[in-house]
Amino acid sequence: MRRYQRRGLDHTSRRVRRLADPYSVRGRTLLEIGGGIGAMQLEFLRAGAVTATSVELTPTYEDVAAALIHDAGLEDRVNRRVMDFAESAAQVSPADVVILNRVICCYPDMPRLTGAAAQHTRELLLLSFPRRAWWTQAVVGLANVSLRIMRRRFHIFVHPPKEIFATAAQHGLRPADVHRGVFWTVASLQRAA
Ligand SMILES: C[S@@+](CC[C@H](N)C(=O)[O-])C[C@H]1O[C@@H](n2cnc3c(N)ncnc32)[C@H](O)[C@@H]1O
Repeated sequence: MRRYQRRGLDHTSRRVRRLADPYSVRGRTLLEIGGGIGAMQLEFLRAGAVTATSVELTPTYEDVAAALIHDAGLEDRVNRRVMDFAESAAQVSPADVVILNRVICCYPDMPRLTGAAAQHTRELLLLSFPRRAWWTQAVVGLANVSLRIMRRRFHIFVHPPKEIFATAAQHGLRPADVHRGVFWTVASLQRAA
């Protein structure tokens, strides 16, 4: 939260945010899955999105998220829910723009999570996930060893990008813009007309 308040969105989140630039977010509804403190939601609301729904698995962000929403005076435009989106997607309404920023890599069942997100996307799905390269696999492999040593149940996944795009395509979404960074790939996918 302090870093966001001092410096705004981090580099990867800014790249994800910029993917929406060719589209007007004014008047659009937003659904962010796994958005943590909700910084991206605030940025989209400030850019004119009408409402934002956050579906976050971990409850520990909620106090900080509420403080940021309060400071921004956006209480009436954000709806925060704590749940596993892949399991409970049926309880969530679709939105014009859906975001999964660095979330697919935290979830074992990529087709279930990505498929549910794609199903909930009316217009634009914004994604970031680790690029599949030897160095990302090495970094993630080392991180997973450390997590196991610390007896954490959390695990990081480098799901094959082809399968991520194929899952979205099954739900009618086609890549519009894809940028491969050193570690993160960011992509926008659009519903075919
Ligand atoms: C690496 S963090 C990224 C947070 C934020 N999007 C960012 O980029 O700074 C991944 C987040 O996704 C959430 N998450 C993972 N699987 C989820 C699911 N199935 N439903 C909702 N949230 C999920 C985790 O709780 C975590 O907060």
